[in-house]
Amino acid sequence: MKLKKGILVTFEGGEGCGKSTHVNLLKDYLEDKGFKVLVIREPGGTKTGEKLRKILLEGKSKISSLTELFLFLASRRELIIKVIEPALKQNKIIICDRFIDSTVAYQGYARGINIELVSKLNDLVVGKKALPDITFILDTNKHLGFKSKGEDRIEVEDKSFHKRVREGYLEIAQKASSRVKVINVDDKIVDIQKKIRIIVNESLTKFKV
Ligand code: TMP
Repeated sequence: MKLKKGILVTFEGGEGCGKSTHVNLLKDYLEDKGFKVLVIREPGGTKTGEKLRKILLEGKSKISSLTELFLFLASRRELIIKVIEPALKQNKIIICDRFIDSTVAYQGYARGINIELVSKLNDLVVGKKALPDITFILDTNKHLGFKSKGEDRIEVEDKSFHKRVREGYLEIAQKASSRVKVINVDDKIVDIQKKIRIIVNESLTKFKV
C-alpha cells in the first residue's frame, strides 16, 4: 500500500490511559495492510532526547516550569529534525506517543504557563512540515494518572494537576476538532481500537496513491 505523503498520527492522554497499547495495536494493523510504520515517543527518540527524558522524568531535584517546558521542546526539536522529517519524506506513517498537545495540556493548562506562549513555541519547534494529521486523545474521567507513589516527576503531581491536564486536552479537542479526536477509554480495548481504526482508515483514503 503506497501513500502520496508521509502521515503523522499522534496519541495523547493522561497517565495510564492506555496509549502504548493502542499505539502498538494500530502499528500491527497498519503493517498488516502493507504500510511502512514508524513508532516513536516523546520525550525521547534520539540520543539527546533520551538524555533529556531522563532529566525530565527520572530526576529527583525540582526544576522550574519554564526549564521543564524548554527541555520538552528541545527533545521535540531533535526528534523532528532527526527522525520525523526524514520519515515523512519516505512516505511512512509515523505514530508518535505524545507530541505538541502534551506540552499545551501539561505545561500550559496544568503548570500554568501562558497557553498562547506554549502554542507559539510549539509552532516554532515544529514548523509547517511536521504538523500532526490525526491526533487521538484517549480520555477517561477516572483520574488514572494520580498515583501517590508515582514513578516519575510528573506522575506524582496531585489530583488537581491531572484534572487540569484532562480539562486542557478537552479544550484542545474543541479548538482543533478536525485534527483531534477524543476517544473514551472506559470501553473494551477491542472496541476502542475499532474506533481508532475507522478514523485512521477514513483519513488514509485521502492520501493513498
Ligand atoms: P509517558 O509518555 O510515559 O506518559 O511519560 C511522559 C511524561 O511527560 C508524562 O507525564 C507527560 C509528560 N509530558 C509533558 O509534561 N510535556 C510534554 O510535552 C510531553 C511530551 C510529555
